[in-house]
Amino acid sequence: MTNTIESFAGEDILSVNQFDRASLNAVFGIAHEMRILVERFGGAELLQGKILANLFYEPSTRTSSSFTAAMQRLGGQVIPINNVQYSSVSKGESLPDTIRTLECYADVIVIRHPDVGAAATAAFYAKKPVINAGDGVGEHPTQALLDLFTVQEELQQIDELKVVMVGDLRYGRTVHSLTKLLLNYNVSFVFVSPEILRLPADVIDAVNASGHSYSQVEDLHSVIGEADVLYMTRVQRERFTDLAEYDRVKDFFVVDSELMSQAKEKMIVMHPLPRVGEISYAIDDDPRAAYFSQMRNGMYIRMALLAALLGKA
Ligand code: NCD
Repeated sequence: MTNTIESFAGEDILSVNQFDRASLNAVFGIAHEMRILVERFGGAELLQGKILANLFYEPSTRTSSSFTAAMQRLGGQVIPINNVQYSSVSKGESLPDTIRTLECYADVIVIRHPDVGAAATAAFYAKKPVINAGDGVGEHPTQALLDLFTVQEELQQIDELKVVMVGDLRYGRTVHSLTKLLLNYNVSFVFVSPEILRLPADVIDAVNASGHSYSQVEDLHSVIGEADVLYMTRVQRERFTDLAEYDRVKDFFVVDSELMSQAKEKMIVMHPLPRVGEISYAIDDDPRAAYFSQMRNGMYIRMALLAALLGKA
């Protein structure tokens, strides 16, 4: 993929590796305009006559509904398949056949699936653009784009920041995508997790190859004071084969008022959500809490991507 926004037309979005600083700037610029459009007029008729198929084989609240809202605010329509058990998937239909079916009716397909590489498989069979909305423990590129957009909007910079990623770095696909995307910038990392939930080899290899400085630690208190971005994650219960192991690690890290008293005054706390105890509700009113902005930004980023893929950016 080259760097102009026009070159996104007709493309798939499968991995953050497709993006560089120039294309990120272009997407963020459009997302910013989408926000203004929504705030002033509620949306626009840019994608009138276009249809999105929203195909979710795994649970979702934010990703699914923000793609729906993004399409509808741009005048397009949505085929929602959030309950694959009520689709022909439950009759044993293969992924290629489901995709071939949906592209007869839709102009773009969003897919979330438990298997790594499923979105790429879908894209292989589809002639229409396919967007990866999370492929198992693989990637979640549109989440990483909205995460990075939030950092830019909240802190007005990305370079020179120290990013502290916390929790389930092994199974958390948002961490994999965001870490790789941040390699486009001059940042440093602290990866905080119990030993068994460290980053997978391919992600740590990418960080090593790029020469970014990083450390891997198990204690959040000792590093909280350095964080410009604190990126919390949920321990991904559904990925564990041994639930006793999940129980051992699920409550390792909690952001509460006591922890925040040791954090910088100018920093942000992020979380892709859903949270299941990693961030105390007492933090929600702290001006450094950015996780609700992330949710809002998700719609603007997805509006920008849909417009770009459908050639209307
Ligand atoms: C994340 C996901 O599905 O990977 N959620 C999201 O899309 N905002 C994170 C998670 O489920 O923990």
